[in-house]
Amino acid sequence: MSAGSFPTRIFSGIQPSGGLTLGNYLGALKRFVEKQEEGIETIYCMVDMHAITVWQDPEKLRQQTREGAAAFIAAGIDPKRSILFNQSQVTAHVELGWIFNCIVRMGWMSRMTQFKDKAGKNSENVSLGLFAYPSLMAADILAYKSTHVPVGDDQKQHLELCRDIAIKFNNDYGVEFFPVVEPVIEGVATRVMSLRDGTKKMSKSDPSDQSRINLTDDPDTIAKKIRKAKTDPEPLPDNLNALKDRLEAKNLVNIYAALAGQTAERVIKDYAGAQFGTFKSALADLAVATLEPITLEMKRLMQDQAEIDRILGEGADRADALARPIMDQVYDIIGMIRSRRR
Ligand code: TYM
Repeated sequence: MSAGSFPTRIFSGIQPSGGLTLGNYLGALKRFVEKQEEGIETIYCMVDMHAITVWQDPEKLRQQTREGAAAFIAAGIDPKRSILFNQSQVTAHVELGWIFNCIVRMGWMSRMTQFKDKAGKNSENVSLGLFAYPSLMAADILAYKSTHVPVGDDQKQHLELCRDIAIKFNNDYGVEFFPVVEPVIEGVATRVMSLRDGTKKMSKSDPSDQSRINLTDDPDTIAKKIRKAKTDPEPLPDNLNALKDRLEAKNLVNIYAALAGQTAERVIKDYAGAQFGTFKSALADLAVATLEPITLEMKRLMQDQAEIDRILGEGADRADALARPIMDQVYDIIGMIRSRRR
């Protein structure tokens, strides 16, 4: 079953395991808003159950979940048009996650590069949840029979696994129940790189705060981080091909293009021959102009935490209403007795 025969429904999630970065904004949040604006049914989730696959301080986790929700709203997600909630309030995710644990094969999971990266040499000591993570991620998506998932490039392999799980479930039970999702990995900012190392992804878990721009950074900090971003001594060339081996320079050009809503070709033409001093200063102005209103709105929203919690609760109710009938059918398909009166 391709996604094509199911009604279009978008799902995506972000972990509240730290503050959000410019990578999350350009690779995910900004695109989530575009999808909402296209009038597609959109479901967005703070995936708190994923966050606890590595240790989270409870109070910080609660705050980060609220802050993430505030970032969604500040960036343009309208909780009336999109469904916005935190994962743990809708139990269908973990229920289906368990069922998928019984569908997915150890061999498939062992090939997940993100697990290998995160576990590193310490794989004996990480949680079982971290290993099972991609199966829960497939459940997040398929609990709603979602057809399209906008994500950054780093999630591609997890979405391929989600496709494999849907196909295996459908085959094992002889049904055409789950759609085979389409990853939506588009635009110039599918992989925003660290400001200190052009071979590494910009990440909230990088030990160096200088490596990323946080959505909570003030204008001075943003400008300073961009000014100090690693580059090379050459001026900017007049074509993208010449940036092939200049990873840090290429990253800044891509960030500029994504922020400006232009192609990278356009940006390199406009700045051909420019020194980094000039380019970085234009990039800093652009980044501040885009992010400052979002940061200020996040701060404003965070002053009324009860209201954020209310929005998440209401979103969870709407999400649950979509997922529950799907879960009822899943239980029937797999042969579970459902005799409680609800
Ligand atoms: P997470 O929380 O690491 O990241 C959230 C989203 O931001 C994107 N992203 C980036 N995009 C471009 N450049 C970067 N440097 C960058 N860093 C992060 C990610 O690709 C992602 O789209 N497993 C997911 C969360 C998740 C999920 C899901 C996503 C759980 N269930 C179901 C989609 C559907 C994750 O850890 O994302």
